[in-house]
Amino acid sequence: MDIKAVETTQWDWSGDALAIGLFEGAVAVTGNLASLNDKLDGTIAELIAETEFTGGVGSSAVTRVGGKSPIRKIILVGLGKEEDFKLNGIRNSTATIARIAKAERVKTLGIGLPVSGDGALSAHAIAEGLLLTLHLDNRFKSEIEDKGDCLETVELLGLGNQDTAIQTATAIASGVILARELVNAPANAVTPTTLAETARDLAFNYGLELTILEKEDCEKLGMGSYLGVSQASDLPPKFIHLTYKPKGTPRRKVAIVGKGVTFDSGGLNLKVSKGIETMKMDMGGAGATLGAAKAIGQLKPDVEVHFISAAAENMVSGKAMHPGDILTASNGKTIEVNNTDAEGRLTLADALVFAEKLEVDAIIDLATLTGACVIALGEEIGGLWSTDDSLARELQEAAELGGEKFWQMPLEEKYFEGLKSPIADMKNTGPRYAGSITAALFLKQFVESTPWAHLDIAGPVWADKEGGVNNIGATGYPVRTLVNWIVG
Ligand code: BES
Ligand code: MN
Ligand code: ZN
Repeated sequence: MDIKAVETTQWDWSGDALAIGLFEGAVAVTGNLASLNDKLDGTIAELIAETEFTGGVGSSAVTRVGGKSPIRKIILVGLGKEEDFKLNGIRNSTATIARIAKAERVKTLGIGLPVSGDGALSAHAIAEGLLLTLHLDNRFKSEIEDKGDCLETVELLGLGNQDTAIQTATAIASGVILARELVNAPANAVTPTTLAETARDLAFNYGLELTILEKEDCEKLGMGSYLGVSQASDLPPKFIHLTYKPKGTPRRKVAIVGKGVTFDSGGLNLKVSKGIETMKMDMGGAGATLGAAKAIGQLKPDVEVHFISAAAENMVSGKAMHPGDILTASNGKTIEVNNTDAEGRLTLADALVFAEKLEVDAIIDLATLTGACVIALGEEIGGLWSTDDSLARELQEAAELGGEKFWQMPLEEKYFEGLKSPIADMKNTGPRYAGSITAALFLKQFVESTPWAHLDIAGPVWADKEGGVNNIGATGYPVRTLVNWIVG
């Protein structure tokens, strides 16, 4: 699919299908719309009347234009109230258009949407919307009924000179798609070893530096917390450290740390059947970390970025951690494992200690960490905790730009009491209440002074139904937030 920004407006364009956005309550056929309607033999007015189209957000109408019309199909999308229309409205209306264009087997599509922010931001949002909505993960289907997107050319109307914005969006979308495909892949296809191999491919393709720490290397570093999680698995752990270094002096140095549990059985605190069946997605943090690396490798910002994941599989065997075992992390802190299913934080503990030793200006971790966060915020909003208010603000802005949602949650120190242990520095789980907060407080024990933020993505990493730019399955959350934050 070729995405082009062109000066031609929706009023003058001709081609296979023209999509235009109309605000709620502004569907009167006057002005430019009236001339276009005349050119199309009254089709637009008829379509609006017949479908009782009012421009409500998410609504759409489509029809064939008869005769020798320069446009074969017209697609109307409702943009909702003009005062509520933001950048993400562009992304979501593009998703609606893309789904219709696909169903209608459109070959060349013209998109005429109002600008929000500026032309570059709008072109970016449209391109991202197209690429992410039309991405189909069919790698594990033996028979692909869907021939993929049949769209050949898409022209962004009235948005000339936005080629750079389209390129940026394309790089970001490629990162989101990598994350989606890693998360969709089952646990017998994506293992700590294949994650390390993916990192190696990225290093090779984009000139990044790569270090893989093997189990013995991690032992030497004293990563007892991380290694405890992998000890019952037949698959070796892989500690992935991928680095992007810009030419010249970096403006800042940051570390992205993703939870990479390629399967979470729960360990001896075994999950029940409903809970266990989706646990291939427990490497969503690592998937998004590698996705962000793919985008950053192409965008080449003046920021040094360390992409880290302590990848492991949480299994059961005669070698498994016992509930009650005490582990020593690489910063010397001891942890009483009162629940082997709270394994993500054990892997992250050593990864955070490692990240801080790199003397970066900020550390962001992302993890499918707690079911409690899904209970608190649902499936569309991630949790955000931070020791640094300006970092939290930056992340919120980056998320808003990318159409992803986070809600800041408190690092309520008093709740750390729930993690106190009589025989170790802490337990790995606290009481049932505020489970996502105590998880964040646990992680905080492994960051001394670097500004740090924790993103709990257990809800939004996966979509059970299609909506906006998401198809069923992995969403690639929060690659867009991370990349926007790094380059911003
Ligand atoms: N990987 C899970 C969290 C999770 C749950 C992700 C649901 C996605 C959907 C994590 O390792 C876990 O098992 N957390 C436990 C923590 C508990 C033992 C304190 C949980 O949330 O139940
Ligand atoms: Mn678990
Ligand atoms: Zn887990």
